[in-house]
Amino acid sequence: MRRVGRENAVARRYEGWPVKFLAVILVFSSWASAAFSQGQSASLTISGRHSSITYFAHELLADPSVRELSIPDDPVHRGPRVYRAVPMTHLLKDITLELDDYFQVRATDNFSASIPAALLKPATGTDTEAFLAIENSAVPWPAIPGKQGSAGPFFIVWQSAMAPVGRTYWVYRVAALTVTDSPHKRWPNLGVPDALPASDPVWRGRERFVALCMACHRFNGDGEGDAGPDLATPMSPLEYFQPAAFRQFLRNPSAVRSWPGQKMPAFDEAALSNADMDAIIAWLTYKRQSMPPRKEGP
Ligand code: HEC
Repeated sequence: MRRVGRENAVARRYEGWPVKFLAVILVFSSWASAAFSQGQSASLTISGRHSSITYFAHELLADPSVRELSIPDDPVHRGPRVYRAVPMTHLLKDITLELDDYFQVRATDNFSASIPAALLKPATGTDTEAFLAIENSAVPWPAIPGKQGSAGPFFIVWQSAMAPVGRTYWVYRVAALTVTDSPHKRWPNLGVPDALPASDPVWRGRERFVALCMACHRFNGDGEGDAGPDLATPMSPLEYFQPAAFRQFLRNPSAVRSWPGQKMPAFDEAALSNADMDAIIAWLTYKRQSMPPRKEGP
């Protein structure tokens, strides 16, 4: 009995409270949703060596340089797409670059790609132009085929009158771009001796390995990709893969080993030509012979 009485008293004390409270909530929530939709707007940070700037999606979508961009054959979505996009040169106009600089492009899912700065911001007019496509969170893009979620909030897309730009440079879910030295300067141990003739495939192999594999793999501790294992230590894959199985693995990893959480992408011939695959194998072979593996981990 006492308990019930007390509850009644409590209920009376708060009579009329729900209405007032609701009114407060309504005022607060309309203010909050305005503030939140701004605060929630995805951001992209571009860092040079001396300065950095952060852009918000809603600001970029309202920027006078934004345009509608038709991509006839988007390699990520495997078909034609139309984007709201700003030219990369516009976003990078205040960033000072050295000739052989790279941009480290970090994605929201921690994927990390190196793109030569000269591709994103060419010194002179070229046939290839990079754009930043911006997703409007009110009208999200469709999911990337075979993945959960879209390529947003920011997606680096390319227009090229000549050879199409490799799939690895179409970086999606971009969160940040940071100027860095070229991978060859940062990780000199990836190099090959200058004495080797320029025609030797190991040169090409190193370049292709850096461009295609280091987004996810380190090499003897060098690099920034941590999605997959280090490909030099503790053991080179060439120690335990027959050459034919290694080639098959790169073309279709699940043809060699298969499990539900598998993430290593399949490289078809458009992504990695036979000649480039040979070059990567030549470089890995050269490195395995010339470089003692590190004793301890990275
Ligand atoms: C998008 C990330 C990604 C890229 C790019 C990538 N890999 Fe991998 N790789 C992985 C992951 C993750 C694994 C670990 C196995 C798995 O989860 O599929 C792996 C595993 C491997 C293995 C070990 C296989 C084994 O079973 O021991 C080799 C060798 C390999 N990758 C080579 C390469 C080469 C060469 C390239 C470039 C042509 C490359 N990878 C590009 C993510 C990647």
